[in-house]
Amino acid sequence: MATVTKEPPAQGRALPVNAREAMEKLNAEAAPLHIWMRTQANAPAQRPWFRETGLDAAGKVAGGRVGTAQMKPVPHRWRWSEIGPYLDQISQIAKNADVSPIEFADRQQFLLTNPGLGGRLQVTSTIRCAVSIYNPGDVAPVHIHTPNASRTILSEKGGYTNVEGERCEAARGDLILTPNGTWHDHGNDGAAPVVWLDILDFPLLEFLDINWLDDEFHGEREANARAQAVVHQAGYSKKLYGSGGMLPGFVSHQRGIGHDTTPVFHYRGADIRAALDGLRREQGDPYEGITLSFVNPATGASLFPTLQYSAQLLRPGEETRLKRETASNFYVVLEGRGFTEIAGQRFDWQENDIIVVPNFLWRRHVNTGQTDAVIYDVSDLPLMQKIGQYRAQGREANGEVTNLVE
Ligand SMILES: [Fe+2]
Repeated sequence: MATVTKEPPAQGRALPVNAREAMEKLNAEAAPLHIWMRTQANAPAQRPWFRETGLDAAGKVAGGRVGTAQMKPVPHRWRWSEIGPYLDQISQIAKNADVSPIEFADRQQFLLTNPGLGGRLQVTSTIRCAVSIYNPGDVAPVHIHTPNASRTILSEKGGYTNVEGERCEAARGDLILTPNGTWHDHGNDGAAPVVWLDILDFPLLEFLDINWLDDEFHGEREANARAQAVVHQAGYSKKLYGSGGMLPGFVSHQRGIGHDTTPVFHYRGADIRAALDGLRREQGDPYEGITLSFVNPATGASLFPTLQYSAQLLRPGEETRLKRETASNFYVVLEGRGFTEIAGQRFDWQENDIIVVPNFLWRRHVNTGQTDAVIYDVSDLPLMQKIGQYRAQGREANGEVTNLVE
């Protein structure tokens, strides 16, 4: 039997004076055996939910003796003015390249990395985001995978995603879904480069070790052999499900081999904007303004079992009240300018800026502009609900904390 300590202390012998130091030494010595000694009460990384209501309660990794790889997402903003130019550079390299980067790197994109996560390719514990550019002629070959994914279109027009044979032609503000278990391919058959955000629940699936991808498509292909044939023309999703409250009875609402995912693959930015605008005279929610959540029309559930997608309108001068929740939120600014205060820190934003609000942190949004602000939100709220962990709190104007969802 392996002995760890060379000279175990004799029974009854007093502990060394510096017990902390001795325990750390013991821990280091025992590490090769893949055990971890509890050397000091490990302070939790998370503040207590009901007791700690300070505005600056940004979760920090505890200073105590915790697992060495423990990491924690932090609030962050990516300014489009800073990151956007890198897409142009990728595009330029691709234009003059011997071989296009999309051929050897699969995609022309950069991924956003949360500064608190040590370089991991994720913005929260559950969400990954890539910013992609497709030059004219680029094709991402047809494939299928377990992560649920979406595209938020930033360029004015151009590019497409074909999902299960439905061609979704992209324009700014569109949301194009590729739920888990759907065959999809992307490309740009227009004349100008196109840019979009890919948002996925990839890190969660990675953590669970259930990430797989397949590109052996056996269905009918388009002429270029890397894309699936178009079976349904643009607008098919809308034709089937676009009349709110009416559900077609002659189709299966399961598209692809995934479960509990939306049969709607395409929301048009113009429709989203018009729907928000139609509600602008309503009072809205004091913590969120005017919001619309995208739902699976067949079940009323979130688009994906893991992620909820919403669009949010903040009218000129509108300020929301402070709210915090156990879900994380990932925002993209489609229109307007303002700021989001997160754990006491102010993050100014304007068009195309991207902001992450990790769970548990107080946040509020302010539209400081003369025009509307429109923000898209992706949140892991449905996952938190499913595991029995969704809670939300608000802060009244007088500073009093109330439980919105207990
Ligand atoms: Fe994909």
